Amino acid sequence: MTTIAKAAQAGTYSFGGRSVARLGYGAMQLAGPGVFGPPRDPDAARAVLREAVALGVNHIDTSDFYGPHVTNQLIREALHPYRDDLLIVTKIGARRGADASWLPAFSKTELEQAVHDNLRNLGLDVLDVVNLRAMFDVHGPAEGSLEEALTTLAGLRQRGLIRHIGLSNVTPRQVADAQRIVPIACVQNQYNLAHRGDDALIDSLAEQGIPYVPFFPLGGFTPLQSDALSTVAAQLEATPMQVALAWLLQRAPNLLLIPGTSSVTHLRENLAAADLALPADALAALDGIADPIRAA
Ligand SMILES: NC(=O)c1ccc[n+]([C@@H]2O[C@H](COP(=O)([O-])OP(=O)(O)OC[C@H]3O[C@@H](n4cnc5c(N)ncnc54)[C@H](OP(=O)(O)O)[C@@H]3O)[C@@H](O)[C@H]2O)c1
Repeated sequence: MTTIAKAAQAGTYSFGGRSVARLGYGAMQLAGPGVFGPPRDPDAARAVLREAVALGVNHIDTSDFYGPHVTNQLIREALHPYRDDLLIVTKIGARRGADASWLPAFSKTELEQAVHDNLRNLGLDVLDVVNLRAMFDVHGPAEGSLEEALTTLAGLRQRGLIRHIGLSNVTPRQVADAQRIVPIACVQNQYNLAHRGDDALIDSLAEQGIPYVPFFPLGGFTPLQSDALSTVAAQLEATPMQVALAWLLQRAPNLLLIPGTSSVTHLRENLAAADLALPADALAALDGIADPIRAA
């Protein structure tokens, strides 16, 4: 399974008023180590972005707090002027400390500044989709009111600076509460073969036609490792990462994938997962991988 595939071979889904390929790309890995500072090889980073778009990716996930500013600037340098069909999704609500820490940035002033930073660094007049990244607990969803921040974002939307608003790192209750304030275009939470706490939320969003964008689809900073995954991959003559992506693609039609990589070789490998069909016995083996504690 190393052939080059077009992103749309995995199918498309309606997102932000566009039809996007279900296999997209997450730009976080393009910043320097620890998502802080510039990459060692900016030319290589720009090459990954250009190859993604050349292979049909039309959904790129980013944030101005990656670097900070670095991934957005690389996206602009590599891809501006943007193709009409390219949906760039960014997120706000956090900032980086001088020590590379991830800190909340939820005040009205910080949110407005973040939107202007994204517009400037991406070279855009309006942002297609802005996810509000909840920071009550940096490591996972935690209850807390998003009302004030969403009201600020709704105001920016009315001023024409944002087209669509999404949520990230949120609980099902926060999603329901948010939908009473403003239309929610997507939810971006951690979800993968081994981390399935959002199963019910995914199904509820699928019924509403709302995209769910799993972050860390390959396990994030520590890519997924499991004997069952390796065995299935060997049987299907695919790589474990391709199997992990194919499992997500079959999980629900509203799952839009944004695997991250700093490597053109890995990018091509990941997009080739669009061609991978998982037979019933492989699905059964993969379904057994979930971490029972996190999924509870
Ligand atoms: N909303 C949020 O709070 C949040 C949090 C985290 C991430 N995100 C978004 O989600 C996107 C995806 O998450 P992620 O990039 O952190 O994690 P990921 O996609 O789960 O995994 C990325 C890691 O897997 C490696 N990798 C990728 N393809 C591979 C392959 N074919 N073979 C072997 N290793 C491979 C990458 O290394 P190489 O560079 O060497 O390929 C990198 O270390 C991010 O880019 C970002 O846009 C959002």
